[in-house]
Amino acid sequence: MGSQDFDPAQKGEPDLLNHSAEQLNGSLKGKDILSVRQFDTPTLDRIFYWSIEMAEIARKGYKADFLSRRILANVFYEPSTRTSSSFTAAMERLGGSVIPINEVTYSSVAKGEDLEDTMRTLERYADVIVLRHPEMGSATIAAEAVSIPLINAGDGVGEHPTQALLDYVTVRKEQGRVNGLTVTMLGDMRHGRTVHSLARLLSLYDVKLNYVSPEILRMPPEIVEELDAKGVRQTEFDSLAQVLPETDVLYVTRVQKERFDDPAVYDSVKGLYVVTPETLQAGKESLTIMHPLPRVGEIAKSVDLYTRNAAYFRQMENGLYVRMTLLAGVLGKLPTT
Ligand code: NCD
Repeated sequence: MGSQDFDPAQKGEPDLLNHSAEQLNGSLKGKDILSVRQFDTPTLDRIFYWSIEMAEIARKGYKADFLSRRILANVFYEPSTRTSSSFTAAMERLGGSVIPINEVTYSSVAKGEDLEDTMRTLERYADVIVLRHPEMGSATIAAEAVSIPLINAGDGVGEHPTQALLDYVTVRKEQGRVNGLTVTMLGDMRHGRTVHSLARLLSLYDVKLNYVSPEILRMPPEIVEELDAKGVRQTEFDSLAQVLPETDVLYVTRVQKERFDDPAVYDSVKGLYVVTPETLQAGKESLTIMHPLPRVGEIAKSVDLYTRNAAYFRQMENGLYVRMTLLAGVLGKLPTT
């Protein structure tokens, strides 16, 4: 949501990893959701409790008129199954409707005006915009071009704040707490926007973070430094075996094939880590295994049978309830957020 007199010519390059998004301070009403850095723990508590309420609403179908006559423009410039369809379902479960815009071809947003013009157009038709775009910083640029709330559904290798929120809700539901946990992230730390957002969000709590990846897929130094400055305990590893026994939550990610310029480099790092039932043997009995999905072999299907540990389908379902909460919140329909 930007000022009406926003002038792109004045903007210059966005400060991509440090874009300033408004602090939410407990209220989502009328706000953009661009980065997890907008959140504090009281706001997260409210989102947690509302997402439980939304699960009831979705299940029973009562009060499903929160968002009647409201329209979401659901704009995806990159492929999506879960994020896109859960935003659609969220809107419709609350009585609203959706303009779906998928598979749009794009030209460079950081320089061009195409994205901004598209956003300004949709602003005339819709009450809220959800945007996924391949370029980091695009959500900020888009948000500044319009005066209705805009939710970042993934900006390239930047952030994926709504995923981090559903991940947080899942950790809290599965483990009963967030403080005191050891969370091990496995796979593509470099390009995975979900781990970028989740690490930042978890830095609000007393957690220990382990990053397991090959050397070339390490967590970006800006993020490690940002969390270091906040006193978060972070350690990098090459192998999962080193840290599995102490891990409470294992967050598995796919190597992000589409972010590699050289397919040979992708081939050299794909398939390095595969979680199997044997992995569970060395882990805690209470280990929670998460994955933002899609998986492309990082978690063997046989792990799905360990339903106590395998939380990734529950995690995905939580996405619906969190997105119902966010849409109702930014549209001013939640009494306490
Ligand atoms: C993730 C994404 O798009 O960043 N997927 C999702 O939103 N559930 C993870 C991925 O694509 O690997």
